[in-house]
Amino acid sequence: MNRNDAQKTPATFHVKSFGCQMNVYDGERMAEMLGTRGMTPAAEGAEADLVILNTCHIREKAVDKVYSDIGRLTREDGTRPMIAVAGCVAQAEGGEIQRRARNVDIVVGPQAYHRLPDLIDKAGRGEEAVDTDMPLASKFGALPARTRQARPTAFLTIMEGCDKFCTYCVVPYTRGAEISRSWSAILDEAKALVDGGVREITLLGQNVNAWTGEDDKGRTQGMDGLARELAKISDLKRIRYTTSHPNDMSDGLIAAHGDEPKLMPFLHLPVQSGNDRILKAMNRSHSVDSYLRIIERVREARPDIALSGDFIVGFPGESDAEFEDTLKIVDQVRYAQCYSFKYSPRPGTPAADMDHQIPAEVMDERLARLQALINQHQVTFNAATVGRTTDILLERKGRHPGQLIGKSPWLQSVVVTAPELAIGDMIDVDIISAGPNSLAGELSRRKAA
Ligand code: 5AD
Ligand code: SF4
Repeated sequence: MNRNDAQKTPATFHVKSFGCQMNVYDGERMAEMLGTRGMTPAAEGAEADLVILNTCHIREKAVDKVYSDIGRLTREDGTRPMIAVAGCVAQAEGGEIQRRARNVDIVVGPQAYHRLPDLIDKAGRGEEAVDTDMPLASKFGALPARTRQARPTAFLTIMEGCDKFCTYCVVPYTRGAEISRSWSAILDEAKALVDGGVREITLLGQNVNAWTGEDDKGRTQGMDGLARELAKISDLKRIRYTTSHPNDMSDGLIAAHGDEPKLMPFLHLPVQSGNDRILKAMNRSHSVDSYLRIIERVREARPDIALSGDFIVGFPGESDAEFEDTLKIVDQVRYAQCYSFKYSPRPGTPAADMDHQIPAEVMDERLARLQALINQHQVTFNAATVGRTTDILLERKGRHPGQLIGKSPWLQSVVVTAPELAIGDMIDVDIISAGPNSLAGELSRRKAA
């Protein structure tokens, strides 16, 4: 299958990111880098000369989707764009991809995408263009500074990788060991984002609260110190972070939730299961009780904090009673929202070789029950905000003329009709109604508490 001559030196590109927010962030950095090299993003609907599939390997279906996407990029006349597979599938299955999908031109892992321009040149010359290195020098130093953002919210990766080795998870293999970016690199990037119009930053890391570094005076700092320093940037109004590990919830970070107003009252703290035997088999290194104790302390510091979690159902050997314990913890914590997944055996992880893999029908049934319960708590949480006055940061247009959608401090989408306002405005609204997935608000005359 041939590409057009024009695509030997692609002029336009399109990045499609799957999976987690870190992939979204990486996709944006790739786009900015190609932009500074003179390439332009393809207009929506138009065909790009280069398509980058920025992939996720966390569960099976994500991988299948990539292969079907590669197939669909072939045009009616038999030509196709230059195709790059980036992200975690590229890292984990670089060789396999080339065998299975011969029409892939570039394979680039998540720690090597700063080298994309060279890889594009190589592919243009018809040479093999594969880079799944995990170089010691971070890619961040080689990427251009952040450019002006179209939205008032942005992600900022502050650490990457994972040393925890939960037995189900591919991340330690695809993203490598935990590495924190430097204090100054993070602050510089945050300032550039804020200068470019950003008002809310979400700090990212697979174990974001394990971030550690030295400040400009050589003192060791954790994520709480970093958040407090970021809060000094006056035009930065809100700080969020995700994803956290229970064992890295330090006293300082819990305290910061109580006294740093720019740190939003929202905590994504996955527990995965409500049963101690399963947590042990997952190598989570925390128990149900130690998790609940952390939640209690976070709530003491910030009583209105919204909690969010991740759950896996059907981990190998999970009995009915052990699954029921997961339902129990959902009731105990009363999460504002949650993500829940069927266990998916990942090649190379210890759990994939464990006995007593759970049949698909059992997983389906457990997932449906869990999701119904999670949904119930989400509805309750949203309903409890009706009647409150809160600030929202307007992020995008709504479906109807004059409608704008913003986020509450608790990460709920709030729809308001306010034609005189603009994306990026922070406003106070009275919440007048709530559904499972969004709230409706009216401009308030009161000031949010
Ligand atoms: N199967 C199902 N879910 C998984 N997750 C991670 N690995 C797997 C797997 N093998 C879920 C966890 C994690 C989230 C990002 O994805 O809940 O917190
Ligand atoms: Fe998926 Fe994990 Fe990679 Fe994110 S880090 S893209 S969740 S495999």
